Amino acid sequence: MEEQREEIYESGTIGIIPLLTPYKMGKFDLSHRVVLAPQSRLRSYNFTAQPHAILYYSQRTTPGGFLIGEASGISDTAQGYPNTPGIWTKEHVEAWKPIVNAVHEKGGIFFCQLWHAGRVSNYSYQPNGSPPISCTDQPIKSEFHIDGSDGASFPPPHRLTVEEISQVINDFRNAAKNAIEAGFDGVEIHGANGYLVDQFMKDQVNDRTDEYGGSLANRCRFPLQLVEAVADEIGADRVGIRLSPYADYNDSGDSNPEALGFYMAEALNKYNILYCHVIEPRMVTQFEKLATRKSLLPMRNAFRGTFIVAGGYDGEDGNNVISQGGADLVAFGRLFLANPDLPRRFELISTLNKYDRSTFYTFDPVVGYTDYPFLDSNK
Ligand code: PHB
Repeated sequence: MEEQREEIYESGTIGIIPLLTPYKMGKFDLSHRVVLAPQSRLRSYNFTAQPHAILYYSQRTTPGGFLIGEASGISDTAQGYPNTPGIWTKEHVEAWKPIVNAVHEKGGIFFCQLWHAGRVSNYSYQPNGSPPISCTDQPIKSEFHIDGSDGASFPPPHRLTVEEISQVINDFRNAAKNAIEAGFDGVEIHGANGYLVDQFMKDQVNDRTDEYGGSLANRCRFPLQLVEAVADEIGADRVGIRLSPYADYNDSGDSNPEALGFYMAEALNKYNILYCHVIEPRMVTQFEKLATRKSLLPMRNAFRGTFIVAGGYDGEDGNNVISQGGADLVAFGRLFLANPDLPRRFELISTLNKYDRSTFYTFDPVVGYTDYPFLDSNK
């Protein structure tokens, strides 16, 4: 990894677009560093990936490009929004297969994001109308969510027992196995944005007094046990994790995000996983943006595998972070959603389609999904 970074410095950036330089991520040869960020699009009816996702993902595939699929529920307690896909049944696996195939046919590398919403859910998404599960029994405080619900819709969760935590770890293991069976090249554990894994890590959510709560080591025990189990199941060289220590989204703040992020980045080294993917907080001003970009450097320097950053990057920011060695890869969400040919647009330094927020989470199989134009509309 060091060597690759040096190569970029030595060759200079004049005439080169850093985001479009190749990168070797473990056994995967990436032709560029523009990653499709995982994004829920709420178009997977009946919690099952749908054929219209074939076009959506293949539009965003380039040979040697790296794509991370939308959050996919790991068990029947994992869902919290309408029309998010699952990866816990045979039927889910079969539904994903043609989508993964289409990405592979175009030469893409495709990971499945394994997700559990934890307490960001309500009775209607749970088996037998049970309460959702979490590390705590305290509900989310009032806040608006992507499906238009507010905090009042989030009931007090069931506080997992230690035995039940082991079961959830097994569910993640099973989901990882399913993802590989569906043809995915690997999995990303969703440990961000206030969902179950993040709930354990954050001291403003986790109020446990057993070995899963209190100290940093205890709060990170569940995520690290998950990493260990999933890596054991499918091989560490196919496992990544997404973290957002700085985010307080879904009422998930932490009193010391620097310490949390650094602890996780270091602790992950023990498992030799492929990558660590970190979301930076959304920033308003350029000044704040620069200050925050810097804040991930301790994590970047502590973690020995591939380091991916995300969070409101544009092409210029992305090129800067790569050329300065602040990351190996940059994940783009909203820009990639609205520009299926984003790497090409970065190459040509062309204008970008604007995203339409009002269609992010509609259930429409075309509008706001597969109808964003390419530069060359014949493609
Ligand atoms: C997120 O990571 O913010 C996220 C995950 C799953 C969803 C929606 C948002 O369905």
